[in-house]
Amino acid sequence: MTRVIAVSNQAGGVGKTTTSINVAGALANRGQDVLLIDADPQGTATEGTGFRDRYDKKIPSLFQVMVDPTRTNEINEVILDHAEFDVIPANKAMDALKDVLISQVANSEMRLRLALAEVNHEYDFIIIDCPPDLSQILDNALIAAQNVLIPVEPTRRSIRAIQKMTEEIEYLTNSFPEQVEQIEVLGIIVNAIESTKNNDTEEMLDFFNDAPYAVFHIPDRVAIRRAWNNGVSIFQHEDPAKTEDAREAYDEIAAMLERQQAEVTA
Ligand SMILES: Nc1ncnc2c1ncn2[C@@H]1O[C@H](COP(=O)(O)OP(=O)(O)OP(=O)(O)O)[C@@H](O)[C@H]1O
Ligand SMILES: [Mg+2]
Repeated sequence: MTRVIAVSNQAGGVGKTTTSINVAGALANRGQDVLLIDADPQGTATEGTGFRDRYDKKIPSLFQVMVDPTRTNEINEVILDHAEFDVIPANKAMDALKDVLISQVANSEMRLRLALAEVNHEYDFIIIDCPPDLSQILDNALIAAQNVLIPVEPTRRSIRAIQKMTEEIEYLTNSFPEQVEQIEVLGIIVNAIESTKNNDTEEMLDFFNDAPYAVFHIPDRVAIRRAWNNGVSIFQHEDPAKTEDAREAYDEIAAMLERQQAEVTA
């Protein structure tokens, strides 16, 4: 059974794309068959996996798959090969996606879910990198995935961000009771924790440890940014000795996802 996971937080620049690419890399490194979907019109995950050229090209993309219910099946044609996992890139055409979806009446929140049902290959995991807003795209991703990882920065504004995500999840669960049984937050990922922690960071780490979710810590590392520049996850990048703590941190998340998957399929 394929497990679909949305990496979401409506706050910008908190590490959604970094988490998506590196959790996908960690799962692939453990031998899992993974598809990474860039659902953000900014295309940061597309660029960070080396597909910048696809972003700029005028070609059928996830945009057509999501806006035209007669073309959902074309999702199979927009999947690309990457060294570690498969990728559905974003395309600049997706700038219009939110507005087009909002203007459509029928099932506009279900488009991604319907498209994923058409994917021919049976992946172990599908990771969806979400845009930084509470839009139709996010709703599509949450409904398609029903499992969520929330990356946050170690600052106070994250409390509000988690609250907003929780409210959106509640809203979707109430609005689509037939399609959405439960959207589950699998974990909070406190991202880019600096080695020298200030009081604010310490306070936030304490706060998250009391939260009713599994909490993971990712260090702030230049190597993580360099891997993005090179179109790969940290698992394909540089001297493993230099990136050991970051790898371990992502591997812990991947291990949790595998355990979860085993429980669900047992
Ligand atoms: N753990 C980390 N260590 C070092 N740099 C990081 C780390 N996490 C994220 N960054 C850097 O911070 C910036 C923002 O990260 P990222 O693009 O993953 O955030 P995002 O939430 O996806 O942003 P957006 O909301 O725009 O989609 C990027 O330049 C990224 O390389
Ligand atoms: Mg992003």
